[in-house]
Amino acid sequence: MGPFEREVSSASLSTTYPAVAGPFTNADDGTEIEVNQTGQREEPLVASAEVRDFYERMPYPAPLTSLDEYRDLYGNPDRRRGLFHLLWPTERLRENREILIAGCGTSQAAKYALREPNARVTAIDISETSLSNTQLLQQKHSLDNLELRQLSLLNVQELGQTFDQIVCTGVLHHLPDPELGLRALRDVLKPRGAMHVMVYATYGRTGIYMMQAYCRRLGITPSRQELQDLRTALNNLPEDHPLNQLLHKGKDFQNLDALADALLHPRDRSYTVPQVYDWLDRCGMSFGRWFEQAPYLPQCGVLAKTPHADRIAALPEPDQHAAVELFRGTITQHNFVAYRSDRSTESQAIRFTDQQWRNYIPIRLPWTECVRDRGPAGSVAVLLNRAHKHRDLVLPINAAQSRLFNEIDGTRSLDEIVRNDGKEDARSLQFFERLWQYDQIVFDASCAAAAG
Ligand SMILES: C[S@@+](CC[C@H](N)C(=O)[O-])C[C@H]1O[C@@H](n2cnc3c(N)ncnc32)[C@H](O)[C@@H]1O
Repeated sequence: MGPFEREVSSASLSTTYPAVAGPFTNADDGTEIEVNQTGQREEPLVASAEVRDFYERMPYPAPLTSLDEYRDLYGNPDRRRGLFHLLWPTERLRENREILIAGCGTSQAAKYALREPNARVTAIDISETSLSNTQLLQQKHSLDNLELRQLSLLNVQELGQTFDQIVCTGVLHHLPDPELGLRALRDVLKPRGAMHVMVYATYGRTGIYMMQAYCRRLGITPSRQELQDLRTALNNLPEDHPLNQLLHKGKDFQNLDALADALLHPRDRSYTVPQVYDWLDRCGMSFGRWFEQAPYLPQCGVLAKTPHADRIAALPEPDQHAAVELFRGTITQHNFVAYRSDRSTESQAIRFTDQQWRNYIPIRLPWTECVRDRGPAGSVAVLLNRAHKHRDLVLPINAAQSRLFNEIDGTRSLDEIVRNDGKEDARSLQFFERLWQYDQIVFDASCAAAAG
């Protein structure tokens, strides 16, 4: 991952595990699912050990020896502020948070500790190799605000702590029962806390499932030689194989450990949008927002130009997102923010239908870019978000919009900006809504929340 990318998970790919057919046997691989006396499913020890052993041998992501290249990037306070308000638009910036990184892998927790020097970061993982890699980074960069524990997230309550922020990316889909995992995390999330989760997405990974099945048929093991042979075979895939799209785009496949994580993982499953919503609901959580929302919105990209755009936009939001996932067909991961469903205040209260918007302070997301003089006719620039994988999500802007865009300084409210422009009209407001939909900005809506 380059230094300019957002440090979300680069974790990858999966076998689809159909919903467990009966309470005792996993229909896909025949492993026994144990049931305890209260009738709850327990993680089969064999399966945990299998996943742990896999990550002992194939730590993920590829270990880093230094975070030097991230230092300047993370020194930028706007980055911290942008990320904070993405999770908590209606709250005032709090830096001294308790953060849990559940299933931290080789470097994610160290990056968080570096970026959030005033937070206390606790990182857990079942893999000793992953923790050792993280520890090396911790020592190298004197990350005193980071604590590491070898612990399954299923036993997270053993920490005896609750957290403002929980990050769990690329992990829950590897558990025999992701529901148990999400519940365990939810139980250590503070009532006003936010959770950032990434799980695999079903449709976009069709090619991966096919190739996983191929590897199983051939009995391919994750030895160096077998992985090299696999990479050679993949280099010769038919051009129009569904995996090829991912192969050419994904850096993931250049690295052998990542290839193993993608295609030889002993256990993983994936989710469609409705399954994400249902899963959260069953675990006492509620959906907040997609980390990048534009790929899920009918107002963004090519879909907005089709006759179906308005029809989709008239549906309830979860159905809109489900429809857009089906239309796009290539979403490979669902990266989202969720809250406890018993949270007393509204968490993602961004809307433009009442007058609250006047107090919103727009903050540009630092991983966005404004490319001048390369847009379509009539535009003066195009705005893009480097975390977007879909090329249709660039936003051309005209001269008037460019002036408005340049007014964003992280301190002025929309009211001030729009007034400054001298034309307080619906079109200016619509433009800011569009910037937000296209993941160009987040809002600090804490003043609006206080005023409301
Ligand atoms: C694909 S890596 C993702 C690492 C990191 N979250 C990221 O996004 O870069 C998955 C990690 O989850 C860990 N893991 C798997 N099952 C776990 C469990 N039950 N409890 C804690 N960690 C687990 C693995 O050891 C591995 O390090």
